[in-house]
Amino acid sequence: MRIFDKLDCDFTKNVNLIFGENGKGKTTILEAIHMLSLSKSFRPGAKQNVIKQGKNSFSLASEITTSNNQKTKITYNIFKGQKRIKINDKQIERISDLVGVFPVVIMSPEDADIISGHPQARRNYINKLFSVIDKNYLYILQQYTKALRQKRETLFYNDEKQLEAWNHQMAIYGTKIWEKRNQYTLLLQKKFNSVWEELEPKTHAEIQFISSSTKSEEEFIGMLKKMSKKEKEVKRALFGPHTDKLKFIYKNKSLKDFGSHGEKKILLSALKLAEAKLIKEKTTITPVVLMDDLFAKLDKRRSIAILKMASKHNQVFITTTDSQAGKLIASESNKVTYFHLDKDLRCYEA
Ligand SMILES: Nc1ncnc2c1ncn2[C@@H]1O[C@H](COP(=O)(O)OP(=O)(O)OP(=O)(O)O)[C@@H](O)[C@H]1O
Ligand SMILES: [Mg+2]
Repeated sequence: MRIFDKLDCDFTKNVNLIFGENGKGKTTILEAIHMLSLSKSFRPGAKQNVIKQGKNSFSLASEITTSNNQKTKITYNIFKGQKRIKINDKQIERISDLVGVFPVVIMSPEDADIISGHPQARRNYINKLFSVIDKNYLYILQQYTKALRQKRETLFYNDEKQLEAWNHQMAIYGTKIWEKRNQYTLLLQKKFNSVWEELEPKTHAEIQFISSSTKSEEEFIGMLKKMSKKEKEVKRALFGPHTDKLKFIYKNKSLKDFGSHGEKKILLSALKLAEAKLIKEKTTITPVVLMDDLFAKLDKRRSIAILKMASKHNQVFITTTDSQAGKLIASESNKVTYFHLDKDLRCYEA
């Protein structure tokens, strides 16, 4: 995978701190763990980029003991673009069979988009999370997205009957999405508030969920009827869960517009810790927390506070290029095992 020809690692159930210089493959290790959990990388770019250049395949093999003491073997193979995932030597038929078996929460520089990106990035974030905690959510979302896509196409040629049919589909699945989103965002907000209270009790922060959710299919269709003229004019679908918004407020201001890099990262870390709690509550399995480049942009006090919270209940993987910060963290607790990824790309306990 990527830079590695082969890598064997035996990690501890507590905190695994992976130190290595730039480009030595630290993020790739987290990426491998993430792929075993969710079948995909968390990094942007084409799917095949994870395969080492010049090769046409790679494989991952893992032996995992989840928090409910279940021993599970997950393997992942990709060969000529064909993906094969096995759980306990049995090939899975659908990716959704993998989701939730070995949950992980990732904190990485890539997810800055959750705060600073387009509203779609925030919707993608909650969609991914809610799919992990509720298998049915993904199905409903896929059906809704399909209807939405068809409706958008139909808006370009006036076919009243077709439009009505897609509106009807959107109402069926949109109502279901809203029912679940309202419930799960409320849970996420509660978890976030409790994490935040522990992490930064002196500062106010909150997550706002802004939605025009309706309670029934009839109400949904009624709203679509009201919007119909405008939608045809602008040729856009103006109503439904695809217009929901998530907003992060920090010190009574929009974090996206006013927050510093560090402030955004603190809030994002709190959000991810809240996510871990939500996954634990809903799947009963304690997720593994992956923290890529934890110390970047955060002061030491906050890095340690975040790490302490994460490691209270979860297995944690941290990467760093800062050996001083790494050693400081390692000396803070006997739960931390320090791994060195050296210039020959060997990973060993140091
Ligand atoms: N498909 C690929 N084939 C070969 N090498 C790759 C491929 N994809 C990425 N690389 C290389 O793998 C190396 C390891 O990348 P990775 O992001 O894991 O490093 P890192 O240790 O996290 O670095 P940093 O400290 O800068 O974040 C990089 O040098 C990158 O250019
Ligand atoms: Mg990296």
